[in-house]
Amino acid sequence: MEQVTGGSVLSMLLVACAFTLSLVYLFRLAANHLAPLPASAKSPPYSFSPIPFLGHAIAFGKSPIEFLENAYEKYGPVFSFTMVGKTFTYLVGSDAAALFFNSKNEDLNAEDIYSRLTTPVFGKGVAYDVPNPVFLEQKKMLKSGLYIAHFRQHVSIIKKETKAYFQSWGESGEKNLFEALSELSILTASHCLHGKEIRSQLNEKVAQLYADLDGGFSHAAWLLPEIKNIFYKAIQKHKQSEEKVDDILQTLLDSTYKDGRPLTDDEVAGMLIGLLLAGQHTSSTTSAWTGFFLARDKTLQKNCYLEQKAVCGEDLPPLNFDQLKDLNLLDRCIKENTKTLTSYTYYDENGQNSLDCSRVCVSPTVNQRLKDSWVNCLDFNSDRYLQDSPVSGEKFAYVPFGAGHHRCIGENFAYVQIKTIWSTMLCLFEFDLIDGYFPTVNFTTMIHTPENPVIRSSSMGDQPATPEMPDSSGEEEEAGPILQSSVVV
Ligand code: HEM
Repeated sequence: MEQVTGGSVLSMLLVACAFTLSLVYLFRLAANHLAPLPASAKSPPYSFSPIPFLGHAIAFGKSPIEFLENAYEKYGPVFSFTMVGKTFTYLVGSDAAALFFNSKNEDLNAEDIYSRLTTPVFGKGVAYDVPNPVFLEQKKMLKSGLYIAHFRQHVSIIKKETKAYFQSWGESGEKNLFEALSELSILTASHCLHGKEIRSQLNEKVAQLYADLDGGFSHAAWLLPEIKNIFYKAIQKHKQSEEKVDDILQTLLDSTYKDGRPLTDDEVAGMLIGLLLAGQHTSSTTSAWTGFFLARDKTLQKNCYLEQKAVCGEDLPPLNFDQLKDLNLLDRCIKENTKTLTSYTYYDENGQNSLDCSRVCVSPTVNQRLKDSWVNCLDFNSDRYLQDSPVSGEKFAYVPFGAGHHRCIGENFAYVQIKTIWSTMLCLFEFDLIDGYFPTVNFTTMIHTPENPVIRSSSMGDQPATPEMPDSSGEEEEAGPILQSSVVV
């Protein structure tokens, strides 16, 4: 009886809520039409939805790219629509996106949106928890640790981690490539960006913690103290050590803000966790898609392998940073990949912007497949970058690494990481699609991941017979403990 009563009260409440929301919605709609806009405000075309409150949420949620492309066709480069009670304004194409990327942080800011997700994970005092000018100083410090001398060491570290990781794949089999490359991305990024000590503690448990943080972001925030403890210990060890290790942790310990203040241990730990997570999904997704494109086009795969032989030598000795740079075809494949699939949509919000709306968004994916900008926009064509400018100089037609004050600082590292992983993998295996299946794209995740990302790998017969020699950097780092499928990202 109680339940029935409770149920009917609930139903009444729901009906009342829906009614109120509809009224509010209709009132707002009317107000929007009637109220004069401030003289400075431009009102973009508005895509009306008859569904109160939810608006276009269902259509957008199902297929955001298709939704945005249709709206672009109908309304042009700037348009607004409502989802779950909020107005979103999209700026599509290079010219419109310039308004977003060239904006000042006072006009459009991302902190309000991102900090809810990241502050519980990275901790306070870093990234979106601080005013953007402070974050920009922190990004500068991190960037000063991402330079060529470090990359030279990274190539050797990543190669060893990759070889150790794939030992368990055996002669041939069908494997989840995305899962493997997510694990390998964490291991290699942690080894390179956090250092040997922290990587050596990246046993199954800690990797799981990372994966939880990465996947859930907010639900696993309570794990933060445990992860931070690992960093505090490494920081203490670095500080006490007589001999200075030249790595990113040391770069941060030696850094100061403009006013001369050094970073606290907490800030160092938060920034390093942030650095790892900022690149995790993007790098692993790009790596995974690279594999599927190479498996789909066996000639391209073979040519990438032959390019490596041509650059490094017929017997494929361990490659170094300079040789990695010369792997131009592999480079272009990754570039085409970031154009085609890795990108995500992002938002900046502030009521004070000239468009007079609450959320302003850009979708790199849509810009990167716009038929007005790109020739054969949907084709995977790594050779399009052989021309000087495949997009006739449109500055924001290709923005997989963002632009403006939120621009990625990890692009160079990402290329070192993905190219080293793939050049190593191409020496270990040949890759094929299974029964011709090329993964469908999950456009509903911010970073567009492959669905059912299973691939067939067959061990290469002609492995380099010569024993591994240290590369020219002299770096002889061992790979850390190996995880297989312990990380569910
Ligand atoms: C293929 C790999 C990658 C892609 C496609 C990518 C893409 C992006 C994009 C689109 C942004 C701008 C986000 C925004 O405006 O909200 C960004 C920012 C950033 N990325 Fe990357 N990224 C990649 C790898 C990495 C790696 C490996 C690292 C770390 C080493 C990294 C660190 C960062 C950081 C710190 C920011 C700054 C965020 C901000 O200022 O708000 N990224 N990245």
